Amino acid sequence: MKIAVVADVHLHDLHGGYGMLEEGGGELALRTLEDTMASTRVFNESYPAFIAVLDDIVQRGIRDVVLLGDYSDDGQLGAVSAVKGVLSSYEERHGLRFFLTFGNHDCYGPEPRHQAKRLTKADGLQPVIVTSDENADETALIRSDMRGMSTLEAMDAMADYGIAQPDDVLHWETPFGDSDQPKDRRPAGSDASGLDASYLVEPQDGLWLLMLDANVFQKVGNVWELRADAAWDYVLAARPYLLAWITDVAQRADQSGKTLLAFSHYPALPLALAGEGDAVKAACTPDWARRMPSPESGRQLAKAGIRWHFSGHMHVGGRIELDGLVNIAVPSPVAYPGGYVIVNADSDKVDIETVRLEAVQGYDAAFPAYRAQAAPTGDRAFSDALAAPNYPSFLRAHLQSLIENKHLPEDWPPEFRAVLDTQIGQLFDVDALGLTERWPQFTPLPLRQMVDDFYFLRGDGTTNGLSAEKIAFYRDLCAGTMVEESVKTSGLQDLIRFLELFRALVR
Ligand SMILES: [Fe+2]
Repeated sequence: MKIAVVADVHLHDLHGGYGMLEEGGGELALRTLEDTMASTRVFNESYPAFIAVLDDIVQRGIRDVVLLGDYSDDGQLGAVSAVKGVLSSYEERHGLRFFLTFGNHDCYGPEPRHQAKRLTKADGLQPVIVTSDENADETALIRSDMRGMSTLEAMDAMADYGIAQPDDVLHWETPFGDSDQPKDRRPAGSDASGLDASYLVEPQDGLWLLMLDANVFQKVGNVWELRADAAWDYVLAARPYLLAWITDVAQRADQSGKTLLAFSHYPALPLALAGEGDAVKAACTPDWARRMPSPESGRQLAKAGIRWHFSGHMHVGGRIELDGLVNIAVPSPVAYPGGYVIVNADSDKVDIETVRLEAVQGYDAAFPAYRAQAAPTGDRAFSDALAAPNYPSFLRAHLQSLIENKHLPEDWPPEFRAVLDTQIGQLFDVDALGLTERWPQFTPLPLRQMVDDFYFLRGDGTTNGLSAEKIAFYRDLCAGTMVEESVKTSGLQDLIRFLELFRALVR
């Protein structure tokens, strides 16, 4: 039994027209390079990357595809319509079937939400704001299909992709029974924020896919806010019936010999952990720590009987385990390392293969526009990205730019950043740690190299990207009980903190 799992496609509708181009005229509506480099995903490349993923799935003879949420750019009516166009085409031409759940960019709870984006034509010049908000500045283009969907609208729009009961599956149910009508899919007495698009589906004999809607909305003032940070903490608190249903599903799966795989947009465990037993805690940078659930949420899901959970949201790959629950972080096609996951589940064995995108035809369609935008700035990150000879290199340059311009300033204080160009051997007492003798080739490296490696390792979710020797050096540096005393520069507690986070990635 094989399925593909695709996370965070974030499809930007290149062909939408948006009131500035003739629809279907062939000219592309593009996000700017500046916006791209400031985001944790690339935009204009989402369409060719999604096509490359789907072609690869077809070529491997896989039929069933899970979309782990954030399938659209930001839930705009137009972007969702473009997603449906792609899905229909692969259903009709290749017989693929799609089962999806919602992410924080697909729908906005009881009320829709205005969206606004800066778009250019193919020449890359004079970007204009396109928005659904009629009260926007008069220079903006007003387009009703830029409006982000409510959850009810999304359930209706995506009904054909598992949200409503499909014709050709062996079993389908929701936490509330077997009705697929939205009116029957919320707890008795709840308001529209209680809508829950979760479902269980058996697309292949013996394979149960538990698709969990983990979008919890809470009203703050007049606005419905989505609890996307630490989402599973909110899900378990706000939807107590869900854990009871999961427990029941897991027991039935066990009794009837079904392989149960669970999916939601958000991590069920912190994606990096430190400590043992009751002392297990997230080992993440501040931005990640804020977004991760508590280990306790993962423990509750493990206790309910989930063994495999697949998450998106963070746009990274990886695998983390606690109390028998394995959380597979599925990489996005539109952020480093760029890929998706194949699950091979035969009887008791579940194999996970991460596929990395290599050739993506047309990934550089926006490059002429980018060049026009980059030339006047002279920005090195921009020119590095534009020098990329292929899609993986482009994603690598994109992450490198994010490290320098976003992650480093947001994650680390000035004192830490001030020593980035200092050699590791000068920051730590590498003689006392025995590293000079063992790893003479690595101790002269600047701290910056290790920091870069940290963020790339975090994106990969594996240590495969670095040589075994370098990983061994980093493990030795992070592991020693003497590390704290060996920090040469006084007052740099952040160096210790950095080594703790690094240790969690290579342990
Ligand atoms: Fe996303």
